[in-house]
Amino acid sequence: MYKIAVLPGDGIGAEIVPEAIKALNAIAERFGHEFVFNEALIGGAAYDVEGTPLPPATLELCRQSDAVLLGAIGGPKWDNLPAKLRPEVGALLPLRKELELYANLRPSVLFPGLLQASTLKEEVIEGVDILVIRELTGGLYFGEKSREKTADGGQKATDILSYSTYEIERIVRFAYEAARQRRKILCSVDKANVLESSRLWRETVSDLAKEYPDVETTHMYVDNCSMQLIRNPRQFDVIVTENMFGDILTDEASMLTGSIGMLPSASIGGQVGLYEPSHGSAPDIAGQQKANPLATILSAAMMLRYSFQLEAEARLIEKAVKDVLAEGYRTPDLMEAGKKLLNTIEMGDMVAEHISKGE
Ligand code: IPM
Ligand code: MG
Repeated sequence: MYKIAVLPGDGIGAEIVPEAIKALNAIAERFGHEFVFNEALIGGAAYDVEGTPLPPATLELCRQSDAVLLGAIGGPKWDNLPAKLRPEVGALLPLRKELELYANLRPSVLFPGLLQASTLKEEVIEGVDILVIRELTGGLYFGEKSREKTADGGQKATDILSYSTYEIERIVRFAYEAARQRRKILCSVDKANVLESSRLWRETVSDLAKEYPDVETTHMYVDNCSMQLIRNPRQFDVIVTENMFGDILTDEASMLTGSIGMLPSASIGGQVGLYEPSHGSAPDIAGQQKANPLATILSAAMMLRYSFQLEAEARLIEKAVKDVLAEGYRTPDLMEAGKKLLNTIEMGDMVAEHISKGE
């Protein structure tokens, strides 16, 4: 029996999470597993009811569970709250920190059916399979923040970017181990020509590289990396980088897959893993069943793989997604002429059906 905390959150979160649960239920039925789902409030939805975006009961439920499935958080309704009460700073970041989820895995994989869905040329993206490993509990996101008034009547705002050797080593080792399971090429991304924290990052990677002679190590500046991802994405296997660079590069890398609605994520490193799509709460399309649930469904597959070690089950979900796309089914974000348009629920049903009957 596996206990899964379910946190739909805000915006499209409430629409995409049930579709991932459908996929998990289809897996449970086929393989004879028992998944127990316990739902709790987070983000703006929690703030509206409890006055805080991360109620203690929600955090406690996560700690008591074997894994957490999260939808998305935030929206214009809560954008003007003081930072600590905003869904992002008040809920998602403390949740990542409290659960010690220092490793964020975001695989950018192009499903063959989506070769024409991307805004990029087919010959550039064909065969793309990149794993970005983003450090998730350090850097600018968690550094000290302050505001002060200046003599000229303006203000000064500060965000501190700091990394310790320990924090860098831990994520980079993780990335080396992941590279060993793949094509054995690790690209460490930094801004060592300008930032002191990046110089320590690069030195630390260079030291660790000696322990992994079987993995090819390269270093790249983040600005160059953002260009190379579009110019020649197939050069990358595993990318490891600090928190904010990883945030930005993974949105960019998502377009290699056709849509940000295809990018899942796993946040691991502590006792309980957290699985969520890499995209946001999309308030503009919320409540209309237009959202693509595939990133969330693929995040559920990552949960099976990384939290429960159910590799065959994870692969079956991924295969179902691949087949559904190959058969021409699309949510609006991926729609092209000649394809079959599905809404969020229909896409979830289609994937679950393929899991139930697939080989
Ligand atoms: C992500 C998101 C979050 C982040 C936001 C919602 C705080 O953009 O998971 O990439 O910046 O980490
Ligand atoms: Mg982001």
